[in-house]
Amino acid sequence: MEKCTSKKKGVFNASVLANEQIGECFYRLSLAIEGQAAEAFNMTKPGQFAEFELSNASLPSEEKIPNELADKALRQIILRRPFSFSDIEITGNKGKLEVLYCVLGPATLRMKTLSPGDKISIIGPLGNGFSIEREKTLAILVAGGMGVPPLLHLAKELSKSKTKTIAFVGAKSGSQLPCSEIKNVQTLISTDDGSMGFKGFVTAMLKEWLVKEKPDVSKAIIYTCGPEIMMAGVAKIAGEFGIGCQVSLERVMACGTGLCQGCAVKCIDKKTKEAGYKLCCKDGPVFWADEVVF
Ligand SMILES: Cc1cc2nc3c(=O)[nH]c(=O)nc-3n(C[C@H](O)[C@H](O)[C@H](O)COP(=O)(O)OP(=O)(O)OC[C@H]3O[C@@H](n4cnc5c(N)ncnc54)[C@H](O)[C@@H]3O)c2cc1C
Ligand code: FES
Repeated sequence: MEKCTSKKKGVFNASVLANEQIGECFYRLSLAIEGQAAEAFNMTKPGQFAEFELSNASLPSEEKIPNELADKALRQIILRRPFSFSDIEITGNKGKLEVLYCVLGPATLRMKTLSPGDKISIIGPLGNGFSIEREKTLAILVAGGMGVPPLLHLAKELSKSKTKTIAFVGAKSGSQLPCSEIKNVQTLISTDDGSMGFKGFVTAMLKEWLVKEKPDVSKAIIYTCGPEIMMAGVAKIAGEFGIGCQVSLERVMACGTGLCQGCAVKCIDKKTKEAGYKLCCKDGPVFWADEVVF
């Protein structure tokens, strides 16, 4: 996977513009950046991420903390947390970063309380991001659950080219989706409970579509992000149909910059066929599916 060429990553302050709930699971955090931060994030590729400092943010009041997170809420936050972007807009020396997030533990509970005007420290842009294959005329996006955000950013980038894009978006239930369609993209929804779109896994919907539509696989590419088990399924389907596939992996990250070696991804060297480890934060988070050992 191509390395990110931006040398301008750094520690920047961002100001909260808005922070609102969208659907049952997702929140949208909009951040304003300017100056060197805007310069650094100007060339950010979809799938790149930043490490967010959330230890200074307040916890929600006790009654607003879901019971299942009550114990986790009290955990001290030592490490920054990684988030990718669902959109980035830079104009001149000002810009807006958009993050879609789900509340899962102490850091994201605190993220929920950020209000317009609050300041937050971010380190980024980090990682490599998706490598947009310009010669491919069909981009197939496959997103599951929390994997939707970076693919929204990717869909926007792809819409600037002549590539036809189709998106397969899966969730447990319709109410857990951050959006029912991706702007300017044919979007096919699947839900495990059948409350919206195809009933079943997004991988089953993808396979059915590939069998029925028989796209020219030499001109197609799959970009995917979501639960690892889903991406393993997408990688398998991509292999069966002979379609190139990029997967955006998640690991629990500490430094986010390749120092702590804590985010190992087992990979096969395509030339030597030997197994080894790459770092999700530095070599990824986006990898070619056929190099990853799921
Ligand atoms: C490159 C990258 C991009 C990401 N982009 C987004 C995004 O756009 N939106 C979003 O909501 N989240 C994203 N995440 C996940 C996000 O970092 C975690 O949800 C967050 O760190 C949770 O912090 P917490 O303290 O609230 O919960 P924690 O208590 O730290 O975690 C709660 C539970 O969530 C799960 N979890 C935590 N971190 C991860 C992880 N990295 N991968 C898989 N499961 C995890 C674990 O099961 C854990 O028990 C991304 C992660 C990575 C590595
Ligand atoms: S998070 Fe430290 S090396 Fe990847």
